[in-house]
Amino acid sequence: MIPIRERKADHIDICLSERIAPGYCYWDDIKLIHNALPEVNADDIDMTADVLGQTLEFPLIVTAITGGFTGAKKINENIAKACSELGIGMGVGSERAGVNGVDPESYSVIKDYDVPLVIGNVGAPQLIPQKSKDRFTVEDIGKAKDLIDADVIAIHLNFLQEIVQPEGDTSAEGCYEAIRDIARSYPTIIKETGAGVSKDVATRLKGTGIIGMDIAGMGGTSFSAVELYRAMKVGDDIRTGMGESFFDWGIPSPVSLLEARNGLPIISSGGILDGIHVAASIAMGACCAGIAHSVLREATESSDAVKQKLLLIKEELRAAMLLTGSANIKQLSKAKYIILGDTKQWLEELQWTQNNTY
Ligand SMILES: Cc1cc2nc3c(=O)[nH]c(=O)nc-3n(C[C@H](O)[C@H](O)[C@H](O)COP(=O)(O)O)c2cc1C
Repeated sequence: MIPIRERKADHIDICLSERIAPGYCYWDDIKLIHNALPEVNADDIDMTADVLGQTLEFPLIVTAITGGFTGAKKINENIAKACSELGIGMGVGSERAGVNGVDPESYSVIKDYDVPLVIGNVGAPQLIPQKSKDRFTVEDIGKAKDLIDADVIAIHLNFLQEIVQPEGDTSAEGCYEAIRDIARSYPTIIKETGAGVSKDVATRLKGTGIIGMDIAGMGGTSFSAVELYRAMKVGDDIRTGMGESFFDWGIPSPVSLLEARNGLPIISSGGILDGIHVAASIAMGACCAGIAHSVLREATESSDAVKQKLLLIKEELRAAMLLTGSANIKQLSKAKYIILGDTKQWLEELQWTQNNTY
């Protein structure tokens, strides 16, 4: 069994050095319609957004990345400092390690910063019995919440990763009830990790009592890709082959966002690269967007580097708001857009299959 510290460090190294995203940018298929006569001053634009009970200075969250090894402390601290200074939300990586006493300070360091929305993180596969591992209980979720003073707990659905991971947890039966039990005790959202949420799954999940969903669709970080490189490293040919085959498995993020809309707040993520993608997400119905890989390199460098990257996204969002004549986030949510390319084709085919079969 590979130690958890090593796995977490591997994820960071691979994401910094290898190609881990499919080549196609689905977000670029969303075209906001230009307004040549916006009648709004850029400096007066109100970008504040209400997200899961908290007010953010602009609608963005740095979503779960890491925790559970020594180097993770600096990464989480750099993100927390930048997010607190800019008034936006952040999540930490899976807290199983921290709750089990592995480098807990690599998570709890974020308590030193005043981040307006803090999201804890636990994997759905850890909530049900798996081979030789103890499962996470509702009490453990309380410990995960306390470790970082989380406002909300995200339960991640990462079965694509688990099935291609050499040491993955591949039992999936019982997750619905486990999520429901946690949602009864704590403010809970579910979170994919790069393969998206379909309409059917979103409808079922709504029944658990969760308060929101991070759809984390396909088009950005692929955990099949990440695990492929780990499998190669340990000479596991089967998992290497699987990682290659499932590299671009999943529902493209903008498709998932439109499909999953069912009245619950949605965090739009998976391949978000700039403020235009954030603006498109809001226009398509998200309450905010989420990014991970886009700030990873900066997060390993310094909080200033993270802040600069986030400020760029903020100013791009402001520009997109001006150019769609949106004085605030509510107006942006009504901005007109069209959908082109592969994303359009995905949506047309999904609609067709609702009434027909091949
Ligand atoms: C290095 C790395 C580690 C991650 N670890 C976690 C994790 O522990 N828990 C989780 O829910 N998501 C995790 N994610 C997934 C991200 O939160 C996000 O959903 C996904 O990467 C898609 O966003 P992106 O395309 O902007 O990277 C991780 C992502 C990266 C890049």
